[in-house]
Amino acid sequence: MIKKKITIAVCIAGLFIISIAWHLPIKKYNNDLESEATNQKRPSWSGTFEVPENVSWRTNIPPKGEPGDKLIISGTIFLPDGKTPAKDVIVYVHHTNNKGVYPQKGNEEGNGKYHGYLRGWMKTASDGKYEFETIRPAPYYNHEGEPAHIHYNIEAPGYPEYWLTGLWFSDDPRVNGYKIERDGGFSNIVTLTKDEKGVLRGTRNIILQKFKD
Ligand SMILES: [Fe+2]
Repeated sequence: MIKKKITIAVCIAGLFIISIAWHLPIKKYNNDLESEATNQKRPSWSGTFEVPENVSWRTNIPPKGEPGDKLIISGTIFLPDGKTPAKDVIVYVHHTNNKGVYPQKGNEEGNGKYHGYLRGWMKTASDGKYEFETIRPAPYYNHEGEPAHIHYNIEAPGYPEYWLTGLWFSDDPRVNGYKIERDGGFSNIVTLTKDEKGVLRGTRNIILQKFKD
């Protein structure tokens, strides 16, 4: 009789635990943030929602004195036909410093807490062009194999924010054989040239695409 009571009690306790677990929210990302402006959950990779009001087609990312080789990346965003320039596209980029670290000053807000201060936003005009000036990032300091990269996020009217495989550099041996998930319509592997002032320059064009996540 006692054994039966114990069995019933264990079963009830088990059901209770299962029902609590069932109702616990499943978090896809450990550090989801809640945008105060939109009250929407934004994953830790996102950043277009933090676009500043004074955004333009061009931005200068590093603070004065940031060590590294000066780098300017330009490009054009196209509609899905691959020919018509796309207007009002927000391009958000962030990257490591020349030591392979996402550097922080300690006063970062929002997803800047994860992306560091080497990040910037641009918004295309009717010619679809964007450009940012920064320093060349190094691959992760712990050299896990991923090529040196600049993260790209895109958002446009009718195109909710999505990520692309980062911009890679063709002279980085790590690009060989590393998986490209979303090249963005053109190659994400950029060949740099040096201009007359010794500034590294590269181009990445992008075609707008829709992704489910
Ligand atoms: Fe990264």
